[in-house]
Amino acid sequence: MSPVPTTALNDGNTIPQLGFGVFQIDPAETAEAVAEALRVGYRHIDTAEMYGNERGVGEAIRASGLDRSELYVTSKLNNGYHEPDDARRAFEGTLDALGFDYVDLFLIHWPLPTLYDGDYVSTWKTLEEFQRDGRSRSIGVSNFEVAHLERLAAEADVVPAVNQIELHPYLLNSEVDSYGRGHGIATEAWSPIAQGAVLDDPAITEIAERLSRTPAQVVLRWHIERGNIVFPKSTTPSRIKENFELFDFELAPGDSERIDALDRGEDGRTGPHPDAFAYVPS
Ligand SMILES: NC(=O)c1ccc[n+]([C@@H]2O[C@H](COP(=O)([O-])OP(=O)(O)OC[C@H]3O[C@@H](n4cnc5c(N)ncnc54)[C@H](OP(=O)(O)O)[C@@H]3O)[C@@H](O)[C@H]2O)c1
Repeated sequence: MSPVPTTALNDGNTIPQLGFGVFQIDPAETAEAVAEALRVGYRHIDTAEMYGNERGVGEAIRASGLDRSELYVTSKLNNGYHEPDDARRAFEGTLDALGFDYVDLFLIHWPLPTLYDGDYVSTWKTLEEFQRDGRSRSIGVSNFEVAHLERLAAEADVVPAVNQIELHPYLLNSEVDSYGRGHGIATEAWSPIAQGAVLDDPAITEIAERLSRTPAQVVLRWHIERGNIVFPKSTTPSRIKENFELFDFELAPGDSERIDALDRGEDGRTGPHPDAFAYVPS
């Protein structure tokens, strides 16, 4: 039995609350990293067309001997493919690269409100097709701000199952997170340890020493207790294992509030702001 709890989504499906992220893993090293994660016990993998490593994810899953139904796989629509016909082709490309006939979750990677005449609604309606035809069990968005979510609520049929946003102790992203919680949209926290930037914080190292855990485990446990879905990335086997060992301890009373108080608002953001981000890979 997996120690990882599942989170119920608004479409009746469930998602393992802890997964393994593969952003910035070299395509040539992805199959090995995912194989290691599967050996440790991860059953949820978060990839994207933009990462260039969907193929390695599929390879590792097939080589593991695990049944596809035991795995939860997410991928994302790259920024160059928001026009509906392009999105349809890109989604087929994702399934082809993974070597599967469905994904568990497919996301619009970025809203790109300054591109495509700001029409992420048509893109979203195209993802609704993929869910209707069963090739994406759930559909969601990533990096959507409250205004973008409100527009989908007004103009589309399906409420996103998740919103994958930058969220860690230095950026609580509270406005977007609270909107999601109030509207049945699960929060997935990307860069959950801020790519390591929060691990030397004295508040976190003090809690880690007291609980005899590592700083990364303390921060990931904080996410779990807040109800966030997380998928830390690592290519280091000892860290892949460490990041999975979150379910045999709890934070002490007051620890969560202390970590919440590290929020730096916009100053804590490490990635681009979704309202301005307009990168289209060539
Ligand atoms: N939707 C989006 O726009 C978006 C954006 C960014 C990320 N994501 C997703 O979120 C996932 C996680 O975010 P992320 O990869 O940016 O950052 P992250 O998981 O917060 O941090 C990864 C970094 O921390 C190091 N690390 C991992 N575990 C550690 C530990 N226990 N102790 C010390 N250092 C540790 C890793 O190093 P080593 O690998 O060298 O061990 C790597 O440099 C991504 O892989 C991707 O799936 C989505």
